Amino acid sequence: MGGGDDVAASAQAYLRHVQYRDSSRLAARARLHVKYSTAPVAWFPWVVSQIDWPADAEVLEVGCGAGWMWAEASARLPGDLSLTLSDISAGMAREALGRVGSLGRYRRATAAVADVQRLPFADRSFDVVVATYVLHHVPDPRRAVAEMARVLRPSGAVLIACVGGDHLAELREIREEVFGPAVPAELAWSFDADAGAAMLPAHFGSVEWRPYADQLDCRDPDDVVEYLASTPPVEGAAPDERARVVDAVRARFGRGGGRLRVRKDTGLFVCRAPRHL
Ligand SMILES: C[S@@+](CC[C@H](N)C(=O)[O-])C[C@H]1O[C@@H](n2cnc3c(N)ncnc32)[C@H](O)[C@@H]1O
Repeated sequence: MGGGDDVAASAQAYLRHVQYRDSSRLAARARLHVKYSTAPVAWFPWVVSQIDWPADAEVLEVGCGAGWMWAEASARLPGDLSLTLSDISAGMAREALGRVGSLGRYRRATAAVADVQRLPFADRSFDVVVATYVLHHVPDPRRAVAEMARVLRPSGAVLIACVGGDHLAELREIREEVFGPAVPAELAWSFDADAGAAMLPAHFGSVEWRPYADQLDCRDPDDVVEYLASTPPVEGAAPDERARVVDAVRARFGRGGGRLRVRKDTGLFVCRAPRHL
């Protein structure tokens, strides 16, 4: 393996065994969005309302995390879905299956430990494939997209959620005030709205970007510190660096009269007509 491959392997190991071993770190970040979102429709209900779900649909979620979508948006989804919940982390796949299975809401739910770059599923076997906030973690997003197109039926849809360059800009600024602009190697892989717009048309005849209008109106600095501490470089920072993060967050709240507005720049690609290359 060359140096780049070593970095990729250690980043994937960090994701699988530390960051996403279970949902605790992801939940700290999700809490900020759920608590302070100003959007009229919550994220997961909005995502599932972007397509008409076919009858008796076979659905694959890649990078399913804790399976929150199927619980939080269940009121907007048909009950005849057959769900395959997949993730590179065994802990996440297990948690997702436990959550979704206990709902008793869907026709069938199974889980698989799988890397989206090498999906263990037959060609043209799913009506809908979902990937929310996964591809930015993947060393070769092009290969992941090709895999999602491969397993999609010709009449199906792939839903890919990702962020744009301004996403949570205020939080990035706080991080940079303390640690400088370098992005930690574990989180350096990149797939965003611009990359998707450039990459996806090679794999789908139809690609639409649907922006999700939202911003966070944060009122408790501790929630922001907890969010920042869920990933490097704040996660694992020395106590003095951590104290500087707390000071930087409090200073922002002070300047904002006790509030911190955080921009969001995110949305969903709806991709159809897979090119089975
Ligand atoms: C930010 S979380 C998103 C979870 C879920 N989709 C959601 O929106 O709540 C990213 C998930 O992708 C998974 N993941 C990272 N790299 C992956 C890969 N190469 N193949 C499959 N899953 C991966 C992680 O284990 C984690 O559960």
